[in-house]
Amino acid sequence: MNGPRILLTRRWPKAVEDALRLNFEVTANSDDVPMTADQLKMAMRHYDALCPTVSDRITAEILSVPDARVRIIGNYGVGLDHIDMRAAKAAGIVVTNTPDVLTESTAELTLLLILMASRRASDGERELRSGHWTGWRPIHMLGWSLAGRTLGLVGFGRIARATAQRARAALGMRIAYFSRHRATPEDEEKLAATHCNSLDELISIADVLSLHCPGGAETHHLINRHRLGQMKRTAILINTARGTIINEFELAAALNSGQIAAAGLDVYESEPAIHAALLAARNTVLLPHLGSATLETRTAMGMRVAENLGRFFTGEPPVDRVV
Ligand code: 8YV
Repeated sequence: MNGPRILLTRRWPKAVEDALRLNFEVTANSDDVPMTADQLKMAMRHYDALCPTVSDRITAEILSVPDARVRIIGNYGVGLDHIDMRAAKAAGIVVTNTPDVLTESTAELTLLLILMASRRASDGERELRSGHWTGWRPIHMLGWSLAGRTLGLVGFGRIARATAQRARAALGMRIAYFSRHRATPEDEEKLAATHCNSLDELISIADVLSLHCPGGAETHHLINRHRLGQMKRTAILINTARGTIINEFELAAALNSGQIAAAGLDVYESEPAIHAALLAARNTVLLPHLGSATLETRTAMGMRVAENLGRFFTGEPPVDRVV
């Protein structure tokens, strides 16, 4: 098929690649490993659209290559902290993302981590598989109950709200949140969510603290030794947002010293590398960035990119234009 040339930096679900081929000349990185900066710079000169993922670093250097042909970046995912947005704007390159379609999957995974961490599911499975389980006993591997406990949400966007709704309905948790953009009274009432005036206040009351704010410079190491020290000793920390929000080394220390009870993480500071201290920390559930990993969601994300590119190349405004 002729048409605008687009590059997918990784392989996408087959149904999406097939759909894209109807309207575009599609190249998908058949190695399915992150492309190097040099490869991405070359791609900037060769393609009309670049479709990266969270595993690419789209830096100012890449975005400002001379003679760039790329006019739009159709990001596969909602978070954009791996793209230098200021440089994209300066280069006149449009950027789109894929909101909405991954909200439910990510909220489901947040609940999974809350449940796994609070009931020490990873520790339990590790013990059993390694042949160290000696049988039932009253004080074996005790976790922390969730019903009636407070889920503290940092950020109150789509994924936080979907998590709140599920945690309340399915687990009977109370909901509190901190966000710079306070929800309307109607939304707070609908979700029975209490707004906290400061992050410090939220952290001090949360039994489960779940992060739902964007990554990037503003939230870098927002959860550090000081803030971990403000958490209850029985509290659980959950992160399905971005790894950079937590200082991983200081989190590992807080887990090992019993400063907090447990953690459930899906995202890391330098993916796919995981801090050794975190790998060794007690009461920790670690998943490999699976927030949106269902076939339905990954397909919907790709279709959303296809829609954005389709609109852009036919002169209509892309629905999810961010820059
Ligand atoms: C995506 C995510 O799968 O959308 C996001 O921001 O973190 C993930 O759920 C990933 O970004 C794909 O690029």
